[in-house]
Amino acid sequence: MEQQLQNLLIIVVRKLRQLHTTQEFNNYWLSIFGKSGQFARILKLLKEANKTEKPRLGKLTNEIKFKIENAFEKKKLELARSALTESIDVTLPGSKPPLGHLHLVTQAIEEITRIFEYIGFTRRRYPQIEWEWYAFESLNMPKDHPARDDFETFFVDAPPGEKLGRMLLSPHTSSGQVREMERVNHAPPIRMINIAKCYRPNWDLSHVPMFHQFEGLVIDQGITITQLKGTMDYFAKAFFGPSRKTRLRPFHFQFTEPSFEVDISCGVCLGKGTLPAGGKCRLCKEGWLELGGSGMVHPNVLKAGKIDSEKYTGFAFGWGVERTYMMKSGTQLDDIRLLYSNDVRFLEQF
Ligand code: DAH
Repeated sequence: MEQQLQNLLIIVVRKLRQLHTTQEFNNYWLSIFGKSGQFARILKLLKEANKTEKPRLGKLTNEIKFKIENAFEKKKLELARSALTESIDVTLPGSKPPLGHLHLVTQAIEEITRIFEYIGFTRRRYPQIEWEWYAFESLNMPKDHPARDDFETFFVDAPPGEKLGRMLLSPHTSSGQVREMERVNHAPPIRMINIAKCYRPNWDLSHVPMFHQFEGLVIDQGITITQLKGTMDYFAKAFFGPSRKTRLRPFHFQFTEPSFEVDISCGVCLGKGTLPAGGKCRLCKEGWLELGGSGMVHPNVLKAGKIDSEKYTGFAFGWGVERTYMMKSGTQLDDIRLLYSNDVRFLEQF
């Protein structure tokens, strides 16, 4: 029995060296210490040993058992350590968590802001809940003027102001024009870019009740249409690319005189209206795409902002952020409501 014990220790130590997995380790442990394992057999022999031998053999059994257990313990640690180093290979590229990004309208607002800041405009924001006076009267649209029909408006159920009229959700960023004149204490120069949410009660394929506009306003001595045209060209090239041009097309707005619509040369046919392969350009049909309104600030608007229209002149423009951005990306959304539907399958593409 003595010999058997010594042999078992040697065999176990040797065998443990050949084990590589926890599974192998566990199986081997059972074959030694399990109910019908090798050690159980030795204990049986110990029971049967004669009385005089028993104490010595018992002590030896304990010593050998202790050594074997130690050997197992050592191996267990070794396996655990190698399992750890196997699962953390620091040279492997990490797995990337999905990354979000700013909403495309926020991206557009940031880009537009940067472009105008570069030529000295300052970003401003004015109230979204506004008085009728700032949204209409001060912009040369007196009460009951038919031009107001162009601006369907959400009115707020609140007591009207004496001079300021009813409260409303601002239907355009032009409401910030006279507010800006007040901010500078009626003393130009003004070079603001007001980018804000606007509200109109429309909800269909090409309208959402909340959208964004950016409104430029420049007032100083000696401002002319030349600077308006130069600013439009600068923006078109910075935002859409150096090959793009703008043109001013006469139009009517109450708050500007003269007024224009700004068109940008089409990015697909490059202003030609026809394609090299023949046929009309499918995007623009005639070479130009409409960007939005602009014009020279009407003297009545300057008057509402208490600015001397004999001394100062200015230009203004107001365009939709969503529309302008869509024109840049070439995305022809057949449903503008997608922009605000929070469907990541759509948003991820921008
Ligand atoms: N406020 C106009 C609208 O929402 C757009 C506009 C036109 C703004 C001409 C201007 C401008 O500043 O000069 O339809």
